[in-house]
Amino acid sequence: MSRGTCAVIDLAALRHNYSVIKRRVANSNVLAVVKADGYGHGMTSIAKALPQSDGFGVAILEEALLLRAAGITQKIVMLEGALSLEELKQASVSNVDVVVHQLEQLTDIEKVSAEVLSGGTTLGASLNVWLKIDTGMHRLGVDPSDVLNAYQRLKQCAWVQSITLMSHFSCAGEIGTVVSDAQYSVFNQLHQSLLEAPAFLGHLLPASLANSGGVFQDDRNHFDWVRPGIALYGSSPMEGQSAEDLGLKPVMTLVSRIIALRHVPQGESVGYGASWTAKAATHVAIVAIGYGDGYPRHVKEGARVLVDGSLCDVVGRVSMDMIAVDVSSVSAVALNDAVTLWGNGLPVEHVAEWAGTVNYELLCQVTDRVDHRYLGVQG
Ligand SMILES: Cc1ncc(COP(=O)(O)O)c(C=O)c1O
Repeated sequence: MSRGTCAVIDLAALRHNYSVIKRRVANSNVLAVVKADGYGHGMTSIAKALPQSDGFGVAILEEALLLRAAGITQKIVMLEGALSLEELKQASVSNVDVVVHQLEQLTDIEKVSAEVLSGGTTLGASLNVWLKIDTGMHRLGVDPSDVLNAYQRLKQCAWVQSITLMSHFSCAGEIGTVVSDAQYSVFNQLHQSLLEAPAFLGHLLPASLANSGGVFQDDRNHFDWVRPGIALYGSSPMEGQSAEDLGLKPVMTLVSRIIALRHVPQGESVGYGASWTAKAATHVAIVAIGYGDGYPRHVKEGARVLVDGSLCDVVGRVSMDMIAVDVSSVSAVALNDAVTLWGNGLPVEHVAEWAGTVNYELLCQVTDRVDHRYLGVQG
């Protein structure tokens, strides 16, 4: 028998979550964000399981090229944009859209456009650009005062086929935040004001503002494209609202099994540093998962796992390969019994809270040592 430590990936749940989002945004397109190996779920498997997706968002060129090599034909957007002239050319050859978030990237596009025009290069015939505005997050994005100029420069490039206006929320998971309101206003005003400029011929540019939090926070955020990541994987993007409240189902269930059972007498300790001592005689299960698999080392006291449907406390320090669990309350516990670390029955958000981190990090940090088993693969 293998060690039994496994991330079970439920592709039917993924498709369910996609439909929940699609229904919620009505007429907007959905760019499913699959960067960072599909938030730890396996990027190409996730993309292949979503033939209905309008497109995919990745962070970097390597991810885009992996998707194309796996036969993905939908729109792909590189959310960090091309980081060099060479990357820009490669993106164009593979029909990958690029984000432009700073003026240097615009200069590169102008250079390549001039090359294409003079016949000096045999690149993809055209380029789709997502012009990113810094509406207040101050991470990536062109300053609002430079947007009109950036747009006009892009319009001069014969190589550029389409321009989509985009921005990103810093506090999308909070309801009624003044920060999101301010970001929405800057974005919406720019979107509307661009319409009034003569060069725009009276058309609104396609626009994209919302990540998962933005999708559920307020319908006005939806515009033409939404870019959900975490919600697609069935984890809540919203403070104070569970995934279940939002109709989402967990895609990853992280499971392992019991490899040893022992009775720890009162007053004896368990694990490194002898940091936990039994207050009473305790039945302890040793479970085959640790920080070497991506289970967080820093879970605080009160962290729990699911054993036979019961929530049981993790006791003592998390080791590289194992954790210890108090199973005294579980009547018929046996060697090899399955243990759920997160997923079905135990939202990853809860574990994130016990570990002082976010659901995103836990999902992304499951290591290669953990098998990924896919359920609901379509033929
Ligand atoms: C530009 C952009 N859009 C969308 C997303 C998806 O965000 P979320 O997982 O919160 O839906 C991200 C994630 O970091 C992002 O950087």
